[in-house]
Amino acid sequence: MTLKHPKGPAAPARDLVPAHVFMLEGDEIPRHRLPDGELPPDVAYQIVHDELMLDGNARMNLATFVSTWMEPQAERLMAECFDKNMIDKDEYPQTAELEMRCVNILGRLWHAPDAEQATGCSTTGSSEAAMLGGLALKRRWQQRRASEGKPAETPNLVMGINVQVCWEKFANYWDVEMRLVPMEGDRLHLSAEEAVELCDENTIGVIAILGSTFDGSYEPVAEICAALDDLEARTGVDVPVHVDGASGAFVAPFVDPELDWDFRLPRVASINASGHKYGLVYPGVGWIVWRDAEALPEDLIFWVNYLGDNMPTFALNFSRPGAQVVAQYYNFLRLGFGGYAKVQGYAREVATRLSAEIAGLGPFELITNGDELPVFAFKLEDGVENYTVFDVSSAVRERGWLLPAYTFPKNREDLAALRVVVKRGFSHDMAGLLVDDLRKQLPRLEKQPQPAHDSTTATSFHH
Ligand SMILES: Cc1ncc(COP(=O)(O)O)c(C=O)c1O
Repeated sequence: MTLKHPKGPAAPARDLVPAHVFMLEGDEIPRHRLPDGELPPDVAYQIVHDELMLDGNARMNLATFVSTWMEPQAERLMAECFDKNMIDKDEYPQTAELEMRCVNILGRLWHAPDAEQATGCSTTGSSEAAMLGGLALKRRWQQRRASEGKPAETPNLVMGINVQVCWEKFANYWDVEMRLVPMEGDRLHLSAEEAVELCDENTIGVIAILGSTFDGSYEPVAEICAALDDLEARTGVDVPVHVDGASGAFVAPFVDPELDWDFRLPRVASINASGHKYGLVYPGVGWIVWRDAEALPEDLIFWVNYLGDNMPTFALNFSRPGAQVVAQYYNFLRLGFGGYAKVQGYAREVATRLSAEIAGLGPFELITNGDELPVFAFKLEDGVENYTVFDVSSAVRERGWLLPAYTFPKNREDLAALRVVVKRGFSHDMAGLLVDDLRKQLPRLEKQPQPAHDSTTATSFHH
C-alpha cells in the first residue's frame, strides 16, 4: 500500500534540471524515479541542499516541542555515533551502558523506589514509549483478569480528549477502547472527578499528561491518583496511572521540585518522556521507566545477546540510532541537575515574559501563560471579528515565524488559539523580535474587512 498525500502528489511531476554551474547541461534527473546512473556527490548534495532551503527555519519553529539547538560538542558526538545501531548491544557495549545509565538517572530523577534496579529503556520518542507503557498496562490487566477467572476482551483506557495522537494510535493499533473526557468551559484538560467516573473493572489505566500539548498546562496527577485511591477503597477496582510526561517529565523535576506527579505517588506505574523535547536532544529519542520490575510483565520482554550474556529489551523497532542516546547522556553529564534547572528556568522566564508582552499588545487574551510547561496558548479577544488566529499565524509567517493556530477539541471546538513552545535556544531577544513582528502586523490585520483564513484554509496544524 502507498500512503497517498491527501492533496494529491506532494510535488509536480517535473524532472530536475541541474544548474549550469554543475556542467551537466541538458541532463534531466527524474524526481520520482530512480535515476539511471550516478551523479557526482557534490552535485547530488547541492540539489538536495537547495531544495531543503524551502523548509522552515527550525529555530523559528514555535510549533515544535522538539529540540532545535544543541551544543557543537553534542553534535560532534552524534556524528561519531551515526553508524551505531542501538540494538547491537554486543557490538557497542558502551553505548548500551550509557543507555542503562540514562535509565538509572531518570529512575532516580522521577523517584523510582529502587533506582539501582530501574526498569526502562530508550525509544524513538514518546509515541513508542507510550505504546510500550500502554501495552504493559494492558498485559497486566489481562493477567489479573485471567487469574480472577474473568473475561478480558473489552479493555478501556481513560484520558482527557487533549491527549496527543499517540494515544489514539495505541488504542487503535492494540484494540483498546479510548474513554475520552471532553473539555468543558475553562477546564481544558483531565480532572480527577471526570477520570474516575469513566473507570470500571475493564479500565487498564488512566493517562495523566504533564503537560497538555494544547496549552502547556499540567494535569493534576496527584489528584487523579487520590481519586483512584478512593475508587479502590469504595469498589475494589484498582486502576494504575501512566504519566505521559513527554515534555513535563524533563521540566517539573528541575523547576517544580515540590510538585507530586511521579513515582512518589504509589499509583503511578510508568512514565514516558521525550529525550528530544525538554531532554534537549535532537529527534528521535524517548524514554520509558516503570516503577519496578513488577509493573512490566516479563512476557513482553525479549532477550538480545550482550557481551555473551542476555540483555532484556522491549521496543517496537529492532534497529534504532545510537547517536541520540549518546547525546542524552552527554546532556546529563554536561548540564547536571543545576544546568537543566537553569535551561528550563530560563525557558519558563522567556515564556512568561513573552506571554505577558503578547497580552499587552491589545487584541490577545492568554489561555495559559507558560508558568507550567514553558508553553502558552492565546486567543483573540471576544469581539475581534474581522481577522482570525489563522490570519495572525499567516501574517507572522511572512517573517519566517512558524506560529501554529488551531482549534480545541470537543466540547471547546469554538476556541481557536495560537501556541508558543519556548525551548532551549529561544532567547528573550528572539522573543522580543516576535513581539515586534506581531505588533507591526496588527494595524494591517485590524484594517482587514473580513477573515482571510480559517482552520480549513490555513496551513494545517495537528497535535
Ligand atoms: C503529551 C505528549 N505525548 C506524546 C507526544 C508524542 O511524542 P513524540 O513526538 O516524542 O513521539 C507528544 C508530542 O508532542 C506530547 O506532547
